[in-house]
Amino acid sequence: MDAVKCDDVWMIYRSLFSKKVALKGVNLRIPKGEIFGLLGPNGAGKTTLVSIMATLLRQTRGKVEVLGMDSVRDAKEIRKRINIASGNPNLIWSLTVYENLRYYAMLYGIRDRRIVEDLIRDFELEEFRKVEFNKLSTGNKQKLILARAFINDPELVFLDEPTKGLDPPIARRLREKIVAMQRDRGTTVVLTTHYMSEAEMLCKKIAFINHGEIVAEGTKEDLKKMLKMRDKITIEIDAEIPEQKFQSFEGVFMVEKDGNSYTFYVDSVEKRLWDIAKEVANHGRIKNVVVREIDLEDVFNELAK
Ligand SMILES: Nc1ncnc2c1ncn2[C@@H]1O[C@H](COP(=O)(O)OP(=O)(O)OP(=O)(O)O)[C@@H](O)[C@H]1O
Ligand SMILES: [Mg+2]
Repeated sequence: MDAVKCDDVWMIYRSLFSKKVALKGVNLRIPKGEIFGLLGPNGAGKTTLVSIMATLLRQTRGKVEVLGMDSVRDAKEIRKRINIASGNPNLIWSLTVYENLRYYAMLYGIRDRRIVEDLIRDFELEEFRKVEFNKLSTGNKQKLILARAFINDPELVFLDEPTKGLDPPIARRLREKIVAMQRDRGTTVVLTTHYMSEAEMLCKKIAFINHGEIVAEGTKEDLKKMLKMRDKITIEIDAEIPEQKFQSFEGVFMVEKDGNSYTFYVDSVEKRLWDIAKEVANHGRIKNVVVREIDLEDVFNELAK
């Protein structure tokens, strides 16, 4: 059984004078026991979709099933078994790390203090246990927000931009924590992110959302295969070259210029490298050549167009 099933989900935000269609018929299956990534540009509808799946927001139309239950009819039961953490800190600012976790444990009727202690240990918050939330660094605040999201040992947890605004080493530690929690507890994790590398590192499956529609879905490999371009060749040269020269080249989809560095997006490096290099060499001296497979960011840029 899937952890979440969305069938033709629409969300229309209405106010007195305006109407915003935030989701336009989303169909989605999120498998159990995996980390699933929801990617998309600002305003794509990620938070809206996550809020609906987490029963915090009611869709305008369509059906959402969470853990086999109806998101509207069975919202109360679903909430006991899921949890959510968003990138905007919203814990009780005057309570300490320990008190915050105890407080939320109590809301779930959890009396066993070991659950709080385990989370403090797992999220490396030991030395900050007596520090008030508002005095924590951004990274530690985010650790606490994530720890809280696991307080009821949820079967399914939604993490809306869990590493937003964190510096790279802390973001990496948190990603490792998310992976460890998922592995040890078998939790299904749905996360939204802007960071392609994060999705690439964490997620087994990914859905791209743009303008309220799912535009692509699958494993990283599936997504890369969707595009005809597979490789990129970056050539550094000591002169300017007219990019339009390459527009008629077979198998070259796009050329990007960065100073005297030119990146050619091609269908196959084996097929195209020689012809491109030969043409480039007509214009100047080649100083460096780097060949790479395209990454998720390239896929994203194509889909977000
Ligand atoms: N409460 C609301 N009332 C009206 N419009 C809203 C509301 N919440 C979101 N929207 C609009 O719906 C669209 C989707 O917003 P949403 O926050 O779901 O996007 P997002 O993908 O999470 O973006 P971001 O990456 O910036 O977090 C946007 O155009 C947004 O302006
Ligand atoms: Mg959002």
